[in-house]
Amino acid sequence: MSSSDPGSSGRAGEPSSHRDAQGPPEPTGRGRSARGNGDLARTPLPDEIVVLRGIKKQFGGQEILKGVDLVARRRETTVIIGGSGAGKTTLLRLIVGLERATSGHIFIDSEDVTRLSERELNRVRKKFGMVYQYAALLDSISVFDNVAFPLVEHTKLSKKEISERVLGKLEILGLDPKVVAPKFPSELSGGMRKRVGLARALMLEPPILVYDEPTSGLDPLTSRLVDDLIEEMRQRFGVTSIVISHDIASCFRIAHQAVLLIKGRVEASGPPDELLDGDSDVARDFIRNSAVDVDSLGRVAR
Ligand SMILES: Nc1ncnc2c1ncn2[C@@H]1O[C@H](COP(=O)(O)OP(=O)(O)OP(=O)(O)O)[C@@H](O)[C@H]1O
Ligand SMILES: [Mg+2]
Repeated sequence: MSSSDPGSSGRAGEPSSHRDAQGPPEPTGRGRSARGNGDLARTPLPDEIVVLRGIKKQFGGQEILKGVDLVARRRETTVIIGGSGAGKTTLLRLIVGLERATSGHIFIDSEDVTRLSERELNRVRKKFGMVYQYAALLDSISVFDNVAFPLVEHTKLSKKEISERVLGKLEILGLDPKVVAPKFPSELSGGMRKRVGLARALMLEPPILVYDEPTSGLDPLTSRLVDDLIEEMRQRFGVTSIVISHDIASCFRIAHQAVLLIKGRVEASGPPDELLDGDSDVARDFIRNSAVDVDSLGRVAR
């Protein structure tokens, strides 16, 4: 199988060959270039680190995602917004390989992951760090053990090496390791828990960080600190960020690209300002109805 080599399903340098992993060139007959919409299995450009094409997902006969196309570019922040039940979390679970699509193609680092075996998918999952809504720390173990968890699970590092890395990451995230490491998560503020969750997500140094509702349940000030942190992670570690959010203010602050998901379909995508001024009435209304004064927001994404 080609799966051990992320670049083997095609060459980005052959844009006119229409070649894909499944076999001979497909007759397009529609005058489309290889970058048109006709060829779902064509290899993405190197900069397109996460690509979804025609993704559908059903649960028990109900179609939750109805043909989603999405491109997240390397080292950028893509924010997926949309109402409750639109399918955002489902989309994220598909991207990180916790769920399989009913049809369509998902590419991670140019590798088509849609038909990989469980074992191969495990390799791909390591490219992602997940930051959950309420940090999802284990309350019965210390901060140290929470952050050490991915290293204990996935590496053969010695205790000393693990300790160094855990304390180092806490420090990078602005937490005093000596004070915070022995504490239990319940002893921390919301913002500190978020930092600890981030430290854990960063332990295996993944190239892509995904966040599900990182600011939900936080006060506006802490939300802004989390936005700053997301941008700082991007700049400091060069990670790509994919963020699900209800928070339009946060979206305008951090997103290079916003993707509006409505009832399992992408209604609009582009820089947040373009969604506000663009062709889609639905996108404009969605942002306006959030009652956020987007003009007054500072942008942290560069
Ligand atoms: N494992 C599952 N089995 C059956 N239905 C599911 C499953 N996961 C999600 N769904 C359904 O898919 C729909 C979309 O759910 P999802 O959690 O993706 O929405 P969301 O956009 O993240 O919503 P929220 O903003 O409330 O978090 C919901 O109707 C949900 O009930
Ligand atoms: Mg959700």
